[in-house]
Amino acid sequence: MTQIAPVAHSLQPRASSSKESEKPDIQMPVAPSGSESIPVAFDSAYTWNYDVERADLRQLYEKSKELQWNSRTYLPWDTNVDPEAENTPDSFIPIFGTPLWDRLDKKRELPKLRQFATSYMLSNFLHGEQGALLATSQIVQAVPNIDAKLYAATQVMDEARHVEAYDRYLRDKVQATFPISPYLRTLLDQILQERRWDMKYLGMQILVEGLALAAFGFIAQTSQEPLLREIVKMIMQDEARHVAFGVLSLKGVYDDMTAGELRDREEFIVEASRLMYDRFLMQEVWEQMGMPTAECVEIARTSESMRLFRSLLFSKIVPNTKRLGLLTPAVRKGFEELGVLHYESWDASA
Ligand SMILES: [Fe+2]
Ligand SMILES: [Fe+2]
Repeated sequence: MTQIAPVAHSLQPRASSSKESEKPDIQMPVAPSGSESIPVAFDSAYTWNYDVERADLRQLYEKSKELQWNSRTYLPWDTNVDPEAENTPDSFIPIFGTPLWDRLDKKRELPKLRQFATSYMLSNFLHGEQGALLATSQIVQAVPNIDAKLYAATQVMDEARHVEAYDRYLRDKVQATFPISPYLRTLLDQILQERRWDMKYLGMQILVEGLALAAFGFIAQTSQEPLLREIVKMIMQDEARHVAFGVLSLKGVYDDMTAGELRDREEFIVEASRLMYDRFLMQEVWEQMGMPTAECVEIARTSESMRLFRSLLFSKIVPNTKRLGLLTPAVRKGFEELGVLHYESWDASA
């Protein structure tokens, strides 16, 4: 199994000049292109029992068929978007209010930083959506139950629509796309290469989708840009169903697992959570801007507003982990280290 380790980021600050005129032009990120294959191996399950075994999943399947929407015709794509405007309050950019922020050239650098910060966040949503597209198509195959197969098939379609919408927004409106964060890539590879179907669910439906749902909710509440708000609003309706699918499917699965089997799940949750947490330090944005990356990452890691933001991302994951009976002492410790354990008493559906 090929495991992709997170790429170490260059922490060398670029040579900077005190004279404004000598500063090099800010380059646009190079959009990812081409395709890439990774080897996967897991058991594909036929099921010869077509009876309804799980009425709750059938109900979700019915709901999913009724709530399909067309991203091309439903969304107001003719909205004008200025990618360099303050579409999301500047205060959510990690270095906001620091001396580094004060030194930004407000005409040349600040608009680019806004564009890159938006692009970076949405690019990783786009790549995450593709990961979800691949993972749910695997779930269709791997899960041994017809109700889950039928539902998962509708989710594959949902994810295709999400890929389409984010790609179009990035391409036409933000006009910049970043490659996938190495942290997210590592996590997606692990989920796709995992043999055990419950781990695919756990990784994608509970962890990645749980975080996406919280992050999309954050955008829906803070963005001033109407098209993006509409996109995330539509996608969130789908994602809420996807998380529900994960919770319903995994309910009871961990009740009589052996300590050894459970340990694998615990380690997976803690490692995946760490990868997702690190993904929001925006290394690639600082590099692209020619800013001192190590310093910016440190600010993103420690600033109070960013800690709040990153911890908010776990507001669905922690209560759902608990609902599945997986908030064991080891997982509890991992969440505590990330500063997100306090969400254990939250209502995941809120
Ligand atoms: Fe999605
Ligand atoms: Fe999803």
